[in-house]
Amino acid sequence: MTLARLAFPVLRPMLHTLDAESAHRLTVTALSLAPEAKAPVAPPGLEVDLFGLRFAHPLGLAAGFDKNGEVPDQMLAQGLSFVEVGTVTPRPQSGNPRPRLFRLAKDEAIINRMGFNNQGHDALRRRLAQRRERHGIVGVNIGANKDASDRVGDFVEGLKAFAGLASYVTVNISSPNTPGLRDLQGKDELRALIGRLNDERARTSSPPLLVKIAPDLSESALDDIAETLVAMKVDGIIVSNTTLARPKLRSPQASETGGLSGPPLFALSTSALARLYLRVGRELPLIGVGGIDSADTAWQKIEAGATLLQLYSALVYKGPALVNDIVEGLSLRRKAAGAASLSAIVGRAAVAYQNLAGT
Ligand SMILES: Cc1cc2nc3c(=O)[nH]c(=O)nc-3n(C[C@H](O)[C@H](O)[C@H](O)COP(=O)(O)O)c2cc1C
Repeated sequence: MTLARLAFPVLRPMLHTLDAESAHRLTVTALSLAPEAKAPVAPPGLEVDLFGLRFAHPLGLAAGFDKNGEVPDQMLAQGLSFVEVGTVTPRPQSGNPRPRLFRLAKDEAIINRMGFNNQGHDALRRRLAQRRERHGIVGVNIGANKDASDRVGDFVEGLKAFAGLASYVTVNISSPNTPGLRDLQGKDELRALIGRLNDERARTSSPPLLVKIAPDLSESALDDIAETLVAMKVDGIIVSNTTLARPKLRSPQASETGGLSGPPLFALSTSALARLYLRVGRELPLIGVGGIDSADTAWQKIEAGATLLQLYSALVYKGPALVNDIVEGLSLRRKAAGAASLSAIVGRAAVAYQNLAGT
């Protein structure tokens, strides 16, 4: 049991009186100062072998929590099987003016318009180099500076910068807070982007390459993405980033500009996941993210087509004990389903989940 897990129920009311960004900063600082803890042992039967890596179970930390790689090992110690740090851009940037992060408490959701505030490649490289000898799967999520003259060039730099340090690299073309970034999801732009990254991958030994997409893509956009990413042999797709849509929300902050995450994103992101799974099947592994807040929602993502899972927002409301609850709950559900591994569950209800957002 980590200190963070013990302390969260006591600290949560205090943290939630602070503005969301100060609470997050305090959490990351406290984690960085906490004594080292060992990750709990995951129950057997949940292992995922993917990208030449062995994940103890499918649940990892989504990008944005640890943008600068300050606490990956502390987050692994909470029982997550992998951590994605970033988004990181070549040069440091301050992001949008504060306030830019909002808790929607009544919806257990978050709206953020951070705008890729981060310390840049060099700072993250230094931190990852320091933990090189450690075990634990740490992926790096890369982006482009807001004022980049060559956006695609920024991604190529990211791949180069983290080739020897990251367990995998995620190309983030779906953050709604960098104007124009999501245009890279269009067929021609995507082909040009992945083409240049593949040129780089052919030159050097690079880590597995994933692409992270938005939850609100049209059917034809999903067709193009599936076709392009299968043909260009990326290693996986993360579905999804936050949404600019505003499904029914009860919190007064609902009208803030930015990307929405947490349970109100679940239907949209799970439907996108299922629809993509129906296109790519087992040819390209999918990572399901968006609104996971329980073993039930985690299980549903797997049934919709996810081989791996990530979460962020639910940790803000439920704390680190949620990780173990989900892992144990997945183990129970696997046994009840009579499945030797989770692989048998992946995508088995994709047809049912494809219309989730419409219901
Ligand atoms: C405060 C905040 C910052 C985020 N920053 C990033 C980011 O830098 N890069 C990225 O790819 N996703 C980012 N995300 C999106 C998450 O990685 C995830 O895709 C999304 O929050 C949906 O998952 P959730 O509902 O479990 O939070 C951020 C999310 C939040 C709440």
